[in-house]
Amino acid sequence: MSKNMNDCDVGFIGLGVMGKNLVLNLADNGYRIAAFDLDDEKVNAAIAQDAAETNNAEPRIVGCSSYTELLAKLKAPHLIVLSVPAGEVVDNVCQNLIGAGIQADDIVIDTGNSLWTDTVEREKTYKDNFIFFSSAVSGGEVGARFGPALMPSGSPYAWTRVKPIWSAIAAKVDNETGKPLERTEPGQIIEQGEPCADYIGPAGAGHYVKMVHNGIEYADMQMICESYHVLREGLGLDCDEIADIFEQWNKGVLDSYLMEISVEVLRYKDVETKQHLVDIVLDKAGQKGTGLWTAVSSLEVGCPAPTISQAVYARSISSFKSLRKVTSSVLSNPEAEQMSEEEKQQAIEQLHDALYCSKICAYAQGFQLMKLASAEHNWQLNFASIAKIWRAGCIIRAIFLQSITDAFEREADLDSLLVDDFFAEQLSKYQQNWRQAIAKATLMGIPIGALSASLSYYDSMRCEVLPANLLQGQRDYFGAHTFSRIDKPECEKYHVEWSSENPKIIRV
Ligand code: 6PG
Repeated sequence: MSKNMNDCDVGFIGLGVMGKNLVLNLADNGYRIAAFDLDDEKVNAAIAQDAAETNNAEPRIVGCSSYTELLAKLKAPHLIVLSVPAGEVVDNVCQNLIGAGIQADDIVIDTGNSLWTDTVEREKTYKDNFIFFSSAVSGGEVGARFGPALMPSGSPYAWTRVKPIWSAIAAKVDNETGKPLERTEPGQIIEQGEPCADYIGPAGAGHYVKMVHNGIEYADMQMICESYHVLREGLGLDCDEIADIFEQWNKGVLDSYLMEISVEVLRYKDVETKQHLVDIVLDKAGQKGTGLWTAVSSLEVGCPAPTISQAVYARSISSFKSLRKVTSSVLSNPEAEQMSEEEKQQAIEQLHDALYCSKICAYAQGFQLMKLASAEHNWQLNFASIAKIWRAGCIIRAIFLQSITDAFEREADLDSLLVDDFFAEQLSKYQQNWRQAIAKATLMGIPIGALSASLSYYDSMRCEVLPANLLQGQRDYFGAHTFSRIDKPECEKYHVEWSSENPKIIRV
């Protein structure tokens, strides 16, 4: 078949790590790709990898050296996938496509980690030029290659055209067991199972959901790191011993991709120094911003997400390395208490339960945030479907997502995961161990901000009466901000004339 004909099914712009792997995934699933990147080398690398993987059979990727050539090689109406950095690059590419003659019924799909409000704006901005659609992608390099989780949103018409392709390339889950159907080899395709790709809602909804996914990812990662810290510094275990414990934990309710990779990271040794990797990696965490966006959104929406926010703070604190060098030499440590072997074993079990309960709370926060945002923007998010998408392919994939799917299938409009029968029962069953683990880590002086934020969240949600009554009194005292009374309708506002000699309550 001629390489110059307009016989390509999908146009692809941006052949970085994610882009190249998505292209190879599309090709494995029978789609012919027209690929363009400002850096020719990246296109050549994708073509070379494809040739090597297919033993130089008919090329499945056609390299293009301009936007015009890319459009010319595609079947009409055109379908173009962008895998470019979030931000102004997306708009630059869109403008270039307009310059190259893109048509009104062509579809452009943004797969980057774009800010959801940018996506809303872009749909409006480009509506006369083409259909701007978005689909957040999770799963990193390997997910992109062998099956990511996909969170598409925007024009329902565009979804009818994108759906077959997205269903083909997405990770798949066995519907009976809720477990991922692994795909690990180039050329391998999986046709059975439920694809981790479902329409999320109107423009912006998909990127919002992906943002919350990343907020939960931050929380999950931080809580595993805090558990590692307790085991390492508090119980004095070495990397291999901790890897063994995590490996055990990964066989039960904590079975997850993040736990699995933590085992591998902990076991890895540097060839040069023969030391464990974690002992030579500088303890300053990076971040690209999606966790921060989730924390900011939770504050804006007024939805508590303390575990997620704490995970963002933990990354910030880690970046103050030089200040920590000073403060660690000035501030004193708590007195260390020796533990017997039996006490250590008990502490490990308690920590397992603390991680599990804290994880439930982090997910409860993420799902509640999506529920409030959905109501505010009228997205009508389907939480069972979102939990299903996250069962495989994405970074937070875990056995646990099946329990969340089940909870939302039992009650689609669940106010909080905490009130689901299964999760409420799990939390009460393990709460004593959870409290013990938090108390012990605190006495040992190990920072466990995310784990304890979850416990505090649980306790706040568990209390019918919070000290906000005193707080309202304080506000009324210095600012006449008024308060409602429990014995009168909430809409009635009261104030105490604090400055008078005989302060009386008045209705205002
Ligand atoms: C995913 C990841 C991916 C990426 C994030 C996190 O779902 O595949 O979340 O989107 O790893 O950008 O990056 P930071 O940790 O650097 O913020």
